[in-house]
Amino acid sequence: MGIMMVDCLNNDTVRQFLCATQLAAINLKNISKEVDFILTILSHPILKKYPLKTTYITRFLKAIISQMENSGIELPDELYLKYVEFIQKESNEGPFYKHYVLDNDIISNELVESVITIQESISIVSQGTTGLCTWQAGIALSCWCFKNQDKLKDKFIIELGCGTGLSGISACINSRPSEYWFTDCHATVLNTLKHNIQINETHHKFNCKYDIVQFSWNDIEDLKMFEKKKPDLVLAADVIFDHTMFEPLCSSLRYFTNNNTTEILLFCTLRNPETYTKFLETLQEYDLKFTQNILPNNYSILLQQECPIYIIHIKQNVSHA
Ligand SMILES: C[S@@+](CC[C@H](N)C(=O)[O-])C[C@H]1O[C@@H](n2cnc3c(N)ncnc32)[C@H](O)[C@@H]1O
Repeated sequence: MGIMMVDCLNNDTVRQFLCATQLAAINLKNISKEVDFILTILSHPILKKYPLKTTYITRFLKAIISQMENSGIELPDELYLKYVEFIQKESNEGPFYKHYVLDNDIISNELVESVITIQESISIVSQGTTGLCTWQAGIALSCWCFKNQDKLKDKFIIELGCGTGLSGISACINSRPSEYWFTDCHATVLNTLKHNIQINETHHKFNCKYDIVQFSWNDIEDLKMFEKKKPDLVLAADVIFDHTMFEPLCSSLRYFTNNNTTEILLFCTLRNPETYTKFLETLQEYDLKFTQNILPNNYSILLQQECPIYIIHIKQNVSHA
């Protein structure tokens, strides 16, 4: 019997492969049984149209081959031929993409119905911005939006420093906010975001009005656009890494919470405890009341779990214990 796409998509290794998870974070112990899934996925038209980075594919196939050889398992010819095929077209010239399957329990047999496809840069800083690749907290926020659809329903949501747009696209297709604004300060980031939205609009229905807005929290003038219409919910992921940004960011957050109804959720990867503590101190200086939670280790197989991820919840009119 042929391989069913739905079985491929429910397989953890396949889901990690599709979003190019670092090899060190992938458990290849059972790979011999998953090889057929990977070969099926690799032949899918979506991976031809929106390819993963070729060097990632060759390193991944090489790891599978070594694993099988070490275990004395016979290599299927097709696996070796694929490896040679990708070695020959190895290149660093993109564009390259990643495909995120956020749902743990896929029921569709159609790959395009289950993935969010995102164009990603191959380095974490390119063209003077960090926003051209998806960060760990961004993946966490996209999963959170998928799992907490009721918390987004009918809300006017603004995302700050949205980068590639994975979280917002997840919110727009999986939940029903009344309106979603993707905001970022960087023009190239916003252009890539537009491209990512176009890709996903071809096979997903966006269930709300959305807008792409150039907004810098460094520029007080920019806040004027929210004078008449304050968001119900402000979201942001991985925007807390540069302490020179803390004051302007907190000043904007303070502005949003002036009405005492706007809630803010910041998803933060804890890379440097001192930076994180300094940010919490800045929140206190701006009299922003917050609570924090740590995301469980097993929150999503798509997270590499190098560092813990915190959710900071800011809400002014509630007394936080
Ligand atoms: C580390 S990236 C995170 C991107 C995305 N949220 C994610 O998690 O994948 C930080 C983002 O914040 C944006 N950014 C940095 N400074 C900003 C500012 N002053 N105003 C608005 N956006 C800013 C960058 O352009 C970039 O897209």
